Amino acid sequence: MKAFVLTQYKEPLQQQDVPEPVLGDHEVLVDVKAAGLNQLDEKIRLGEFKQILPYKLPQVLGHDVAGVVLEVGAKIQSFKPGDEVFGRPSNDSIGTFAERVAVAEEDLAIKPATVSMEEAGSLPLVALTAWQALVERGSVRPGQKVLIHAGAGGVGSIAIQLAKYLGATVATTVSAGNMDFARELGADVVIDYRSEDFAEILHDYDFVLDSLGGENLERSLKVLKKGGKAIGIAGPPDAGFARQLGGNPVLLGAMTLLSSGIRRKARRLGVTYEFLFMQASGQQLRGIAALIDAGNIKPVVGRVVPFDQTSDVLAAMEKGGVRGKTVVSHL
Ligand SMILES: NC(=O)c1ccc[n+]([C@@H]2O[C@H](COP(=O)([O-])OP(=O)(O)OC[C@H]3O[C@@H](n4cnc5c(N)ncnc54)[C@H](OP(=O)(O)O)[C@@H]3O)[C@@H](O)[C@H]2O)c1
Repeated sequence: MKAFVLTQYKEPLQQQDVPEPVLGDHEVLVDVKAAGLNQLDEKIRLGEFKQILPYKLPQVLGHDVAGVVLEVGAKIQSFKPGDEVFGRPSNDSIGTFAERVAVAEEDLAIKPATVSMEEAGSLPLVALTAWQALVERGSVRPGQKVLIHAGAGGVGSIAIQLAKYLGATVATTVSAGNMDFARELGADVVIDYRSEDFAEILHDYDFVLDSLGGENLERSLKVLKKGGKAIGIAGPPDAGFARQLGGNPVLLGAMTLLSSGIRRKARRLGVTYEFLFMQASGQQLRGIAALIDAGNIKPVVGRVVPFDQTSDVLAAMEKGGVRGKTVVSHL
């Protein structure tokens, strides 16, 4: 089958013929119809995750899939051939930039019925990130004030809608051309990050989802009220993430150190900082699919490109300019 393979860090992905996936007892073979592109794919390609996710090259990339079940492993009960599914395979079984992929049953869910394959393929990684930040870590409740940075991006565009569904008042940062778009997504306060300073405008927030890190994260702590929480998805990583990766003492020490500065600043302000690295979850995707089918959250697909262009569009991702997600399609 055809797949886009990382053969050497920093080099473009190569389209190659690779062996068919070998199906485990607890896995489902999916005929890939659409796959969302993620910054994570590009960061892995550039070698930025070598220490954390040490893939043995060659490796097929791709973290999002929507497609049709072709075959199920011997122990599978919840899916059957012909089911339309979507999912984010776990880190050790990524590879959705391919014609077919084997995905663990626990990482998959039935695709929302009301959206296209491309829309479903845009969702898993970013929607799980938004869910794990706002619901799992943030326990966001009605009436709370939430700041979502980069509201026009893949994560931000879903997180704004989820935060509104949870009953929060939502502020977001976008570039000038995306201000109306952010309001359409439901944002109550929209800040142009190039001409306005969010830290001067926003006060007494309960929760911040930061996807930029660095100074943006530091300034975000100042908009929180005492007891508030900032979740960073662009870093720095913390000890909790090292434990999620298996608790290697060297990583634990390194990540504790990397986040010590921001955690100290947070402590001084009476707020908390945590790093989140999203995890695969078919169960959470079922909850997200229900919200999609109920019309509470709409997928945001800014660009659909043919599968053959996967390598080119991935390498162009950092240029930005796309609202929501870019999706590669086999349709
Ligand atoms: N840790 C995790 O589990 C996890 C999960 C998902 C993503 N991430 C990371 O989170 C980041 C965002 O991911 P994504 O998928 O949402 O990326 P994306 O779809 O490429 O969106 C990036 C957005 O950032 C906006 N932006 C750039 N500079 C900004 C600034 N100074 N203030 C506010 N917005 C700004 C751009 O908005 P304009 O177009 O309006 O300029 C663009 O919409 C990436 O670094 C990604 O790797 C981490």
